Amino acid sequence: MTTDFTATRAMFHLPEGMIYLDGNSLGPLPRAAAERVARTVTEEWGEMLITGWNRAGWMDQPARIGDRIARLIGAPAGSVVMGDTLSIKVYQALASALELNPARRVVLSDTGNFPSDLYIAEGLLRTLGADYTLRTVAPEDVADAIDDTTAVLMLTEVDYRTGRRHDMAALTALAHEAGALTLWDLAHSAGAVPLDLVGAGADFAVGCTYKYLNSGPGGPAFIYVSEQLAGLARPALSGWLGHEAPFAFDPDYRPGRGIERMRVGTPPILQLAALEAALDVWDIADIQDVRAKSIELSEAFITAVEAACPTLTLASPREAHERGSQVSFHHPEGYAIMQALIARGVIGDFRAPGILRFGFTPLYIGLDEVLRAAEILAEVMAGDLWNRPEYKARARVT
Ligand SMILES: Cc1ncc(COP(=O)(O)O)c(C=O)c1O
Repeated sequence: MTTDFTATRAMFHLPEGMIYLDGNSLGPLPRAAAERVARTVTEEWGEMLITGWNRAGWMDQPARIGDRIARLIGAPAGSVVMGDTLSIKVYQALASALELNPARRVVLSDTGNFPSDLYIAEGLLRTLGADYTLRTVAPEDVADAIDDTTAVLMLTEVDYRTGRRHDMAALTALAHEAGALTLWDLAHSAGAVPLDLVGAGADFAVGCTYKYLNSGPGGPAFIYVSEQLAGLARPALSGWLGHEAPFAFDPDYRPGRGIERMRVGTPPILQLAALEAALDVWDIADIQDVRAKSIELSEAFITAVEAACPTLTLASPREAHERGSQVSFHHPEGYAIMQALIARGVIGDFRAPGILRFGFTPLYIGLDEVLRAAEILAEVMAGDLWNRPEYKARARVT
């Protein structure tokens, strides 16, 4: 292992006394991001005003940062661009993929996919016509469900609830054999597990940056289109910054070169500044090391929790290679248990109906904290410390 995890940890601000096992939902603040955003506000926005688009390179930022993300997901430079939210990027990628497979009408997904992806697909298909359908099957049945009606196979690589991982290369190969295109959501994968989009032959991929890439709340999403398709895909969200020459203000739309056409409107410069600084940690961290360490932490947590908490059942695959970088346990009172943990400084999250979800992020979390979190969970369970009315009152965000 070449990554110095003490050095990576020093790059983050972590609140005193907190064990943060939720970097799979919202990554912590990289110290450099706070400085970079402050500088962008005062030196660029403050002093340069509109000239910042050229002088500070704001206009190139979505592609420049896209190239840095590309390195983390096994994609070539010039194949990834930043912008918008992940939900918007799902829409864009799915619309383009469907248009590239015009004889087919079925989008195939799984019941474990993130609801927003399914809602976005439903909304898009409704506008395309009554003959378009979204078919969802259980995650383990996806391979058998791919057939010659499938237009697009749309999956989230790591299941947000259970952490179950799909085999991207195998499913993409099956989809291609059947004449379908693939769209992969990497929200719970990018920055957590090694990825090889080119090797897997993925057609489209999208992901967010506020989880394992630590860009902060509301950080922009990314979109990848394979080299073969980037010049063919026609954006349904054909905004001016995806135009070949935005500043020609041509009334007719002409798609931009390659991945640039997937840009829509004005990029979020302050959030991109935070992301650009957050990505610096990958200059000293190797994703293979991060994966190896995350497996070590996850395995230690599962062993400790199963030994001490017999009423919690593992909701993630037992085999480490079948999981992403999170571990989930099931309990009917999962919400109250998580609130009791949060009150004791262990932050994870709850996903309905009964999932306690813990993310393992070796860039800033070590074995001692993971074992301490398991001990606190054991205390909460053994003493029924969760069984209090204030832990059962549901907040808006869980
Ligand atoms: C797998 C997955 N897809 C899509 C989304 C939606 O992302 P956004 O809110 O950025 O549109 C999320 C959000 O957590 C997610 O986990």
